[in-house]
Amino acid sequence: MSDYSKGLQGVVAGESKIGLVDGTQGVLAYLGYPIQVLAQYSTYEETAFLLLNGRLPKKKELSAFEEKLKKYRALPSEALEVIELLPSETHPMEALQTVVSLLGSFSKVTDLKEKSIELIAQFPTIVAHCWCMKHKKEVTLPHEDLSHAANFLYMLHGEEPAPDVARMFDICLILHAEHSFNASTFTARVVASTLTTLHASISAAIGALYGPLHGGANEKVLDMISDVASEKQVNEWVSEKMDRKEKIMGMGHRVYKVKDPRSYILEEMLKTLSTKLKNMTTYKILKEIETVVRKEMEKQGKDIWPNVDFFSGALYELMGISRELFTPVFAISRISGWCAHVLEQLEDNRIYRPACQYVGARNVAYKPIETR
Ligand code: ACO
Repeated sequence: MSDYSKGLQGVVAGESKIGLVDGTQGVLAYLGYPIQVLAQYSTYEETAFLLLNGRLPKKKELSAFEEKLKKYRALPSEALEVIELLPSETHPMEALQTVVSLLGSFSKVTDLKEKSIELIAQFPTIVAHCWCMKHKKEVTLPHEDLSHAANFLYMLHGEEPAPDVARMFDICLILHAEHSFNASTFTARVVASTLTTLHASISAAIGALYGPLHGGANEKVLDMISDVASEKQVNEWVSEKMDRKEKIMGMGHRVYKVKDPRSYILEEMLKTLSTKLKNMTTYKILKEIETVVRKEMEKQGKDIWPNVDFFSGALYELMGISRELFTPVFAISRISGWCAHVLEQLEDNRIYRPACQYVGARNVAYKPIETR
């Protein structure tokens, strides 16, 4: 019983060279590159290469990688037929999970790293096509000349995004690509450790990311503040939530005991886009919630700060991305981290099989059904 830690808090479940998360110092780095540096200088394509290969690409390697990502973007027509059959109330995360499982049967690629590139390329197409078909909009096929980020917005909206919006979205993808042993990545590694297929591991990871305590929180942040009209109402709104012992979505983190380093960058981009669009309301409400909740949490001695989901949803909304797509957008980015972890897991695999402290009944007498 002494080794037991609820939710595996603080348990070291494996070794990894991919993502460094220092929750006390507020550090996130991929393969040693701080997230701030990647957000400033890199692209999602280059970051995905870094995650899969453990190093930055040379010029030619990056071009070849980008070309591959473009080559694999299109989905087989059978996938579109299956999407068409999904009930209209299907959440895009459920649709994504279904289509990824299905694509496992269609992939002709055998090499695992190549399969990863194929999946990274397909994710934006799956999400955009599912969304358009669910909303009876014409499906926009991938655009060969656009970057990974710009192409997703293009397929979603049917028109090319403004370059500054495309770059902001690119940075969002970089920021969400990897985060060490979070619930979905750990899920991917656990499933991969059984030596099942890449598609099975990734499909399980999608299921984990869907939950409101993980990736689903970004969708819930804006739902949560839908009845807050201005920052003036925040004080009372927070008090009511605290009285009801409700959690503030987008705040708190298992590892970070300071403000999530990604949320600083997302906050800055939200401010920039809100200013450009002359629509500061949500930004101001979120900032006020941060201030009021921080004060309250300090009083209670708790290290609850904004996490990556706190500002991202508001930013996506300004980019014209619908709330239901916030978590799928997270998946479009995190797929590269998941694949990198599956590859790393398989390099030195041992099946995950933790112990359990049994606390149930023992030696119970079996009563025949007539006498129960
Ligand atoms: N609002 C109010 N109180 C909170 C919050 C919050 N967002 N988060 C934690 N607390 C409180 C808890 O009530 C608990 O208080 P108690 O000790 O008095 O019971 C204490 O802080 C510790 O919280 P736990 O939930 O036990 O922390 P845990 O590490 O298990 O959970 C989690 C972390 C799930 C992220 C949690 O903070 C939470 O539910 N946040 C809201 C959902 C969210 O934003 N999820 C996204 C996380 S980032 C990501 O996955 C991409």
